[in-house]
Amino acid sequence: MEKLRLGVLASGQGSNLQAIINATADGRIDGIVTVVISDHQEAFALERARQNNIPAHYLDINSFAGKAAFEEEIVNILRNYQVDLVCLAGYMRVLSSVVLDAFPQRIINIHPALLPAFPGLHGQKQAWDYGVKFSGCTVHFVDQGIDTGPIIIQAVVPVLDEDTADTLAARILEQEHQIFPEAIQRFAQGKLAITGRKVFTKR
Ligand code: GAR
Repeated sequence: MEKLRLGVLASGQGSNLQAIINATADGRIDGIVTVVISDHQEAFALERARQNNIPAHYLDINSFAGKAAFEEEIVNILRNYQVDLVCLAGYMRVLSSVVLDAFPQRIINIHPALLPAFPGLHGQKQAWDYGVKFSGCTVHFVDQGIDTGPIIIQAVVPVLDEDTADTLAARILEQEHQIFPEAIQRFAQGKLAITGRKVFTKR
């Protein structure tokens, strides 16, 4: 079977990127990370890509005429690497239709809360501030909304009395590193079926 060709967009430290790379290396994902793109020059995700001999592209949004032109370049790069599935691994911008229409139902995102609760930025801290007893993380297909697309996998993380926003975020991140590769593998194996808002995993 041909390996699934992954393109990863990341704005930050790239620990989810690393989890994906590790899973492709040890066979938990039948795929290969073909390219990493970041909107931050200093993103450690770019360094992780280089360390793993994966092409790393930094795009400065300010050097483009606008967001559409910036995203057209993202699409160009992803197409150049013949990407099958786009993974948002801590990518902190909302994608517009330029990218969404180029990869219909082929973009997935990891979010650090149990959607639809606490979408947007700092989902872990939002949950901790709110005082919930359980939070977690979500892998979902990306649609036009902010963290609103059909949900593939969620993992639940209890909130402990002794937690700080940071300790909670760290335990959520451990679960992100489990469910993101798992979701990608289900996609790679053609097991995901989307029906309206629902995603079913074929056995
Ligand atoms: C992760 O916690 C991810 O869920 C979150 O950013 C972090 C990136 O960490 N993403 C979002 O909040 C998207 N709205 P990483 O760079 O170590 O993978």
